[in-house]
Amino acid sequence: MSGTEGPAKLRSMRRFFLRTFGCQMNQHDAEKLGNLLHHQGFSPSSSAEDADLVLIHTCSIREKAEQKLYTEIGILAKLKAGRPELVLGVGGCVAQQEGAKLLKRFPVLDFVFGPQNITHLPAMVARAAEHQRSLWVDYDEDPQRRFELPERHPEFESVTPGRAFVTVMEGCDLFCTYCVVPKTRGREVSRSSGSIVEEAQRCADRGVVEITLLGQTVNAYGRTRPGQVADEIPFAELIRRISEIDGIERIRFTSPHPIFVSDDLIHAYGEIPELCPHLHLPVQSGSNRVLEAMNRRYTREDYLDLVTRLRAVRGDIALTTDWIVGFPGETEAEFEATLSLLREVKFVDSFSFKYSERPETPAQRRGLIPMDPAEAGKRLEALQLLQRDLTLAAHQARVGSKVTILVEGTSRRGVDQQRGRCEYNRVVNFVSPAAVQAGSIQDVEIIDATPHSLLAVTALTAAAPRSLELPIV
Ligand code: 5AD
Ligand code: SF4
Repeated sequence: MSGTEGPAKLRSMRRFFLRTFGCQMNQHDAEKLGNLLHHQGFSPSSSAEDADLVLIHTCSIREKAEQKLYTEIGILAKLKAGRPELVLGVGGCVAQQEGAKLLKRFPVLDFVFGPQNITHLPAMVARAAEHQRSLWVDYDEDPQRRFELPERHPEFESVTPGRAFVTVMEGCDLFCTYCVVPKTRGREVSRSSGSIVEEAQRCADRGVVEITLLGQTVNAYGRTRPGQVADEIPFAELIRRISEIDGIERIRFTSPHPIFVSDDLIHAYGEIPELCPHLHLPVQSGSNRVLEAMNRRYTREDYLDLVTRLRAVRGDIALTTDWIVGFPGETEAEFEATLSLLREVKFVDSFSFKYSERPETPAQRRGLIPMDPAEAGKRLEALQLLQRDLTLAAHQARVGSKVTILVEGTSRRGVDQQRGRCEYNRVVNFVSPAAVQAGSIQDVEIIDATPHSLLAVTALTAAAPRSLELPIV
């Protein structure tokens, strides 16, 4: 396919609108797409109606997420009926999964591309300007090519000021039986450590203080495998190198897999002050039978052992997790084991989902039958109720303590409060006599808690008389 710029029509295309679904990896991919379009001369528009190019960046992790694409295409098809020159593209995991079927089923689409092919976006746009449709879902022969992107422009960052995502690896080789990711994101590929550190440095140079390292199994980073580059280092060492960059005050990563939580990584929590004391470590189930059926490669006991070792190094670490309830064949007792693991670890928070059958996953190919959705729904509700109590208790235990937050801006609770995230990754709303700049780090004292957030005051507010009237910020 040619990457040549289309003539007049491409030059007349000015504005793009991008709609993204799904995880942080997808959010960051959307930032990359925005940047690529910026370098191609586009600027963002606030609605599809005002755009010359509309992209939908899709997620297929659960059926509900996939359905959103079809709703969206319906809306855009109507828009295109009135404006045939509108260019429409679909990227992300559904695009990879459905590929040619999508192009065939929806003639309104100009191009469809998978997550490994993001860097080819400018070529697809140029072809669309010449009325040629493209399908770009093959893997690049050079697995490093997906990491070669132009200079990032802060205008397209989806996270708050002061924060940035940096991709360290992509894909997954683990094949959990419920999961579509190894199919949509392909095999595990680590990026060169030199280019990761360089990108983090450039972020720091423009004022970023918090970096979130991203990858589907982020802590598998640097495993030696064919086709990888020579300068990979262990994941804990990568964190250490980034922590040495001037200006980087906080490092997070998502999502790790328990089997790659190495001793080095555990010790990093005791040795690297920039590494935030929060770990989102998906566990999925508390039942060994279910964990095995999911091909998670660890037992409940292995997971608990990790928790003990992490807490021995960093007693205050906040643990959060993911759960799937109603995996095919999950018995009442096996679900009870999930509840008991939640109680035992006392996760500060969790994301929980009903099992959703996905095409061509090992579970689907083996013909595992999803359980009654009503029963799965009840289990989900029970789990979420328990989590709510535990989250509230964890939040209440923080009342009276001091935390450090990265300020995000005005709170959703009203204009007299600002909002940020503490090192434990909890949302903290705070009152301050003067507005604090978004993107800066602020010490606060927690004074109240709800199941959703913490309420805090800055040192200045705490020192002020109780009757102080707080200014509107
Ligand atoms: N059904 C339900 N939840 C799923 N997840 C992944 N695949 C499925 C599925 N088929 C959940 C897991 C994972 C999170 C990102 O999404 O809990 O950790
Ligand atoms: Fe999916 Fe399992 Fe890979 Fe995570 S580790 S992306 S759940 S297959």
